[in-house]
Amino acid sequence: MAKDKNETQDDQPQQEGQAQNKGDDAAPGVDQGGKQGHGKEQEGPYEDPIADLPGFHQTSSTIAIAGHPLHAMSVAFPIALTFCTFGADLFYWWTGDSFWARAALWAAGMAFLIGVAAAFTGTLELLFVPGIRARAAAWTHAGIAVVLLSILGANWGYRLYGYEEAVLPYGILLSGFSVFMVGATGWHGGKLVFDYHLGTSETGS
Ligand code: HEM
Repeated sequence: MAKDKNETQDDQPQQEGQAQNKGDDAAPGVDQGGKQGHGKEQEGPYEDPIADLPGFHQTSSTIAIAGHPLHAMSVAFPIALTFCTFGADLFYWWTGDSFWARAALWAAGMAFLIGVAAAFTGTLELLFVPGIRARAAAWTHAGIAVVLLSILGANWGYRLYGYEEAVLPYGILLSGFSVFMVGATGWHGGKLVFDYHLGTSETGS
């Protein structure tokens, strides 16, 4: 049966796992008592149990303006500002110019605040789009993102009590860790969109 374009790769490991349980002697494409006639996506005798959930294939972004997802639009800012914070810390370490410590304070604050706003749009998408809510990968992304936001918040809050003294060593360490975490969060978010096709348009328009 042809695969729906919204069927995702996170289905594959479960299908393979089920294949081992059912034995290897089935001819390809022959159903060994697997569910039939449900109108569900099925690859030979196997199917993903979460495909039974209502709205499983409904993965289009709904938190969007004219079809453009707000989450994808907003995450660029905290990602860029996290890198800016680390860069400003490095320049402060190199030059000792307090301008860079002040720049890092502002970049850290904006990274956190816009990050919270971006996470809000992502959370709405996660909770209200059935096909996104059903997939474990989306929840994994949310978990990584919450860790990131905690570090971004700590990095900003620590600097509020003396932005110059805060940079070395703990400020720059927090910034370095933030860069790693924002990379992990963004990379995983990209997987949701490009590999699993979450938050995309069904019509392609
Ligand atoms: C709890 C918070 C978050 C949740 C629940 C969440 C959820 C999602 C979901 C469901 C998607 C799939 C696309 C969509 O439906 O719009 C996505 C994509 C993405 N997320 Fe998040 N997200 C959160 C926070 C963040 C944060 C803080 C960042 C980075 C600063 C981030 C970076 C990304 C990126 C880069 C994408 C791919 C966007 C694209 O290429 O179109 N997310 N996120």
